[in-house]
Order: sequence, then structure tokens, then C-alpha cells
Amino acid sequence: MALAQRLFRVKPTDQIVAEGGHGVGGELRRTMSLWQLTLFSVGATLGTGIFVILGQAVPKAGPAVILAFVLAAITALFSALSYAELAGTIPVSGSSYSYAYATLGELIAWVCGWCLMLEYAVSVAAVSVGWGEYLNNFLEGLFGWTLPAAITHSPGDQGGVINLTAILIVLLATWLLLRGASESATANAIFVLIKVAVLVFFCVVAFTAFEAGNFTPFAPMGIAGITAAASQVFFSYIGFDAASTAGEEAKNPKRDLPLAIIFSLVIVTVIYVAVAVAAIGAMPWQDFDPESTEASLAVIVDLATGATWAGLIVSFGAVIAIASVVLTVLYGQTRILFAMSRDGLLPRVFQKVNPRRQVPVANTLIVAGFVSVLAGLIPLGQLAEATSIGTLFAFAIVNVGVLVLRRTRPDLPRSFRTPLFPVTPVLGVIFCVLVMAGLAGVTWVAFLLWMVVGLFAYFAYGYRHSRLNTEVPK
Ligand code: ALA
Repeated sequence: MALAQRLFRVKPTDQIVAEGGHGVGGELRRTMSLWQLTLFSVGATLGTGIFVILGQAVPKAGPAVILAFVLAAITALFSALSYAELAGTIPVSGSSYSYAYATLGELIAWVCGWCLMLEYAVSVAAVSVGWGEYLNNFLEGLFGWTLPAAITHSPGDQGGVINLTAILIVLLATWLLLRGASESATANAIFVLIKVAVLVFFCVVAFTAFEAGNFTPFAPMGIAGITAAASQVFFSYIGFDAASTAGEEAKNPKRDLPLAIIFSLVIVTVIYVAVAVAAIGAMPWQDFDPESTEASLAVIVDLATGATWAGLIVSFGAVIAIASVVLTVLYGQTRILFAMSRDGLLPRVFQKVNPRRQVPVANTLIVAGFVSVLAGLIPLGQLAEATSIGTLFAFAIVNVGVLVLRRTRPDLPRSFRTPLFPVTPVLGVIFCVLVMAGLAGVTWVAFLLWMVVGLFAYFAYGYRHSRLNTEVPK
């Protein structure tokens, strides 16, 4: 087979679906309901974006940060509709990687899977590093002391030696994941309910200090300010696609995956807009500090109540919120690697399922080890943007995938069809490209380097071991 033919061969959709759930040595267990899948996506989404980045984005747009959240939600919505269509048609664990394999061919699928490592493994390491900071905020408020810098920062960063707190949260999440998908989904559901309750508490307290005057002038920085803030808060929507990594553990994936993806986006959008309105109503936008990495929501409720207990509750919410992002995103990474390994593009160890627990134990431990090393040793603040670029690239591929699959396989049963086709997926691609174009040059350089390493890895391993080498595609 010619090189180009090999690189762009697609994996038949029916074959991808038929292989779902099967690993080496055992099968994944279908335990997750619509409710659990929705909370799963909300768990992966609602985190630092609302607790911290909201505060940093307010100085860019003023009260119109509310519109920035709506704009970012619309950007996410186009891609969410495409995710929903493909997740309902190809309900396996590989998320956009598997969709790309079925539509755009092996090389693009690999590139997509490699990008997903930015969205999942690298971002979860960055989020774990942030978790230590919120834990310290909380401990300081509660007991008046903090953990020493030596164990809460990476080497060379503010006196850090090894970031043990970041490693701790990764290990706790790993322990939950090894107990089984159903058990970790239950733990996640509890975490999500706590973080939503804390945000409702925030809104109620902040509304007691509501000043309508804080909303005028509404958009002091004009349209440019709103779009700049929208690019920044887009990060807070990343994760709504996490349910698409649970396709092989969902009870009724064709029906429930599309619904879970859309429900989770609607839920987080409503929460984000409500929190943004409450925050601006309680504190004049000029008082928000763009440099602050602390949970600005905690500062607002302290001001509103004149006491510190309220801020403590919000800090606790941030600790729980980020823990659940770590749990769900770590899960997502293991399942994507599982799908890639089953296709032969990664070593077989990633698809070994422990027959008793029905989870990929070795895979989970390898991912946890890799993420722990990253989180413990490297200051990852800068990598948040790299996460966004990788995610947006994967989103763009999913939108293109919808366009391609409608043309190549119009016959496939689709449990959800994106409305206004082809306008929505085309707009999805355009929005992704626009937000990517707004990211810093250094982020693009890091992204291109990452891609070069990925291509090298593909030709060194995946190209030679692909299961399509021994199977004749349709
Ligand atoms: N959306 C996730 C967060 O805001 C990544 O933490």
C-alpha cells in the first residue's frame, strides 16, 4: 500500500463500534447512567475557570465579562453539537481520536490523540499543581498556617523541592479510579454536588450585597475587551466533552452520550453566567485584580459578609472542584489511550483490563506515574495555554469529522443530528480557528514542537503496529 494511502486509511465505523468495550484480558463494565455521565462532564468542566479565571478576566471586559461567558459558551456549543452527533454515532471511549479515525484517517487520528494528551494528561498535571495552592488558601483560612513551599512548589519555583501536594491529588484520584468506573462516578457525583452547592451559596451571599450601579458602564473596554475576555474564559468550558471518553462504560451510550454532552454545557453556562452576575453585582469591576491567582470568589463573599467563614466555604469548594476535575480528566486520558492501544497505535499494555475490577489497571498506573512526574517537578502555569490550543485543534477535527461522515456514511444510524447542518459544524471550525489565532506565539511554537515529537512517535511505533496493517479496511 502506498504511503499516503496508509496514512489516510480510515477505520470502518462499524468495526470501531463492534470493538467497543473489549480489551486484553477482560471487558470494561457498562455502569454509567445519563445522570452520572452528565455529572461526569460537569465534573471535568467546572473548576479553576470559574473560581479563579473569572476574577482575572473581569478587568479585561468590565461587567460585560458576562457577555464574554456567553460568547465562549456559543463557541463551545457548535463543537458540543458536533461531539454529540459523533458520540451518538460512534459511542466508544476514544472521543475525538476515534471519530477522526473513522472519518479523516489514521495520521489525523493519531495527531488528534496526541493533542488530546495536551487536553487531558498535561492539563491534569497543571490543574493538580493549582490544587496545592487552593489547599493552602483553605488551610490558611482554617488554621492560620500553610504547608511549606518545599512540598507545594516544583523545584526552583519559590523555594520548592518537589510538589508533593500535586502528586497527592493525582494519587488520590488514581486510587478512586482503580476502584472501578461506577465507584469513581459516584465519588465524582458527590464532588460535583458539593461544588455546585458552594457556587449557589456564593450567588446567594453575593446577591445580599448586590449594587445595580456596578453594571454601568457595562462594557468599558468595548467589543475588543469582550472578545479578549471570551478567549480567556474559554478555558472554563473545556471538559464538556469528557463524557465522550466514557462511551464503553455507559449503559445506553447512543442515547445518553449526546444528551450528557449538551446538558453539561447548558448546566455550566447557566452557573457561570449566574456567578458572573452575582460577582459583579457584589464587587465593582475595578476592584478585581488581574494578577490574582487566589479564588477571587472567596474575597467577594468575605467582603459581602464582613466575615471570613464565607470565604472559607468558597475556598473549600475550589479544593473539591479541582479534585473532581483531576479525577474525571485522568479517567478520560486512560480511556483515550485504551482506544489508541486497541487500534495498535500504542503498546498493548494500555488495553489490559483487570478481569476482577474491570478497569485498565496498568494503563491507569502508567498515566498516574507520568502525570505525577510532570506535576511534581515542572511549574506548569505556562502550559494552560498549550492545553487550550490542543483542545481547540481536537474540537476543530470533530467539526470536520461531522461534515465528512455525513457525506461518506449518510446511512449510519445517528441518535443525534446537529441542527442547521452544515452551518453549525462550519461555524464550529471557524470559531475554533479564531480562538486559536488569538493565542500567543510562544504557545504556537510549543504546540508545533509537541506535534513534531508526536509525528516521530507515530512513525517509530504506531505506523508499524497499526492493526489496520493486518486487516483490510473496507
Ligand atoms: N474547565 C476546566 C476548569 O475550568 C479545565 O478548570
